[in-house]
Amino acid sequence: MENKYVKLITSRVSCRTYTEKRVPIKKVLAIAEAGKYAPSARNRQICNIYVIKNASKVEKLRNLSIELSPRGDCMYGAKTVILVAGPREDAFTDKDGACILENMFLAAHGLGLGSCWINQFDDLLNTPKGLKIKKSFGIPEDFKVVGACIVGYAKEGVSLNIKERKVDFIKVI
Ligand SMILES: Cc1cc2nc3c(=O)[nH]c(=O)nc-3n(C[C@H](O)[C@H](O)[C@H](O)COP(=O)(O)O)c2cc1C
Repeated sequence: MENKYVKLITSRVSCRTYTEKRVPIKKVLAIAEAGKYAPSARNRQICNIYVIKNASKVEKLRNLSIELSPRGDCMYGAKTVILVAGPREDAFTDKDGACILENMFLAAHGLGLGSCWINQFDDLLNTPKGLKIKKSFGIPEDFKVVGACIVGYAKEGVSLNIKERKVDFIKVI
């Protein structure tokens, strides 16, 4: 069935190559707003969205990954990072957080931007160096970083192919 919203959703891909151009704060905040309106278990809204807009703070995160991640720079050159975090011990933090992140990937796509889930930040921000950065962002120490949404302008010429899905993904019973 043809529908512009379904089309938007099914054409989103993870982007791993970005230009130097910064995303205007208005667009970043629109993405965060989309995250804010994600569903949450029992409407408790236990997660927070941390928009890291300050360039030197973004660099701190990048340098942390360069220094401590086995895979090195995990941000693929993106200049904007949005962290989603919630209480580590709450059973719904991951589920609520994932809904927020997906809303933001879709909003970014709708705004013509590339985005990708980055998973390393919970581990990185739990190291002695990372904990200082986490504190400076105002993220409570007992919060888990569910994931990060990196956002930017996809580099021209880079193919952003939609990955094939398993043929038996959907079961109709
Ligand atoms: C929970 C989760 C963690 C992910 N972590 C990373 C990551 O750390 N780095 C990365 O480049 N992509 C990460 N991804 C993106 C996946 O690799 C990507 O969604 C998958 O390959 C399918 O590609 P698509 O998003 O283009 O459809 C993650 C995705 C999810 C859902």
